[in-house]
Amino acid sequence: MKILRLETSFNGKSSKSYQLGNAILKNLLKKYPDSKIHTRNLAQNELPHFNEIHFTSFATPVENLSSELKNAAQYSNDAIDELMQTDIIVIDVPMYNFTIPSSLKAWIDHVARSGVTFRYTQNGVEGLVKNKKVYLAIASGGIYSEGPMKDYDFTEKYLRNILGFIGIQDVVAFRVEGVAIPGIKETAMPKAIQTVDESFAY
Ligand SMILES: Cc1cc2nc3c(=O)[nH]c(=O)nc-3n(C[C@H](O)[C@H](O)[C@H](O)COP(=O)(O)O)c2cc1C
Repeated sequence: MKILRLETSFNGKSSKSYQLGNAILKNLLKKYPDSKIHTRNLAQNELPHFNEIHFTSFATPVENLSSELKNAAQYSNDAIDELMQTDIIVIDVPMYNFTIPSSLKAWIDHVARSGVTFRYTQNGVEGLVKNKKVYLAIASGGIYSEGPMKDYDFTEKYLRNILGFIGIQDVVAFRVEGVAIPGIKETAMPKAIQTVDESFAY
């Protein structure tokens, strides 16, 4: 298996989403020992905010690209190449203000590209990123999988929708949650890792 790991937390190795992502990777390597992992750290090497020049580069035929537009398109070309060559994607997702980090949103903006990763047909939208599986490692200070804050979660639902839009329907989400809540935070990580291990054991 070729595995793409997207790291998105600025907290480095102490990051909860990173630690949960590692637990997923450990299990994937157990299941597919010959896998190759390619890591893209979006927190350390941010993609630029998607802007007019990037969008123009998408809409311009390759033969007409100026060097400025070629450079602008390169972020998207590289990110899409990596994605297309991958079987499994593990995404670390720290929750910021109820949603995903802007570094991950920037990656999505460069990857969701009409005519390349999705297209409009007479029958609606067709996702063009086929045969991939995504694992989400979501970390949050509060609890969103159940209870009164459930509706405030714009991480998992958004990622499932946008990944599905480009063709990736097979999305498994794991959560480490309540990491800011006394009485819960102490056991949040071991509990989350246990959930991952158990899920791969079946
Ligand atoms: C800027 C910022 C915004 C945050 N917003 C939320 C939030 O909306 N809801 C929540 O439950 N936790 C929130 N948190 C807490 C983080 O989700 C939590 O610390 C998580 O562990 C961060 O992921 P990481 O450990 O992988 O860096 C926020 C933290 C930061 C730094």
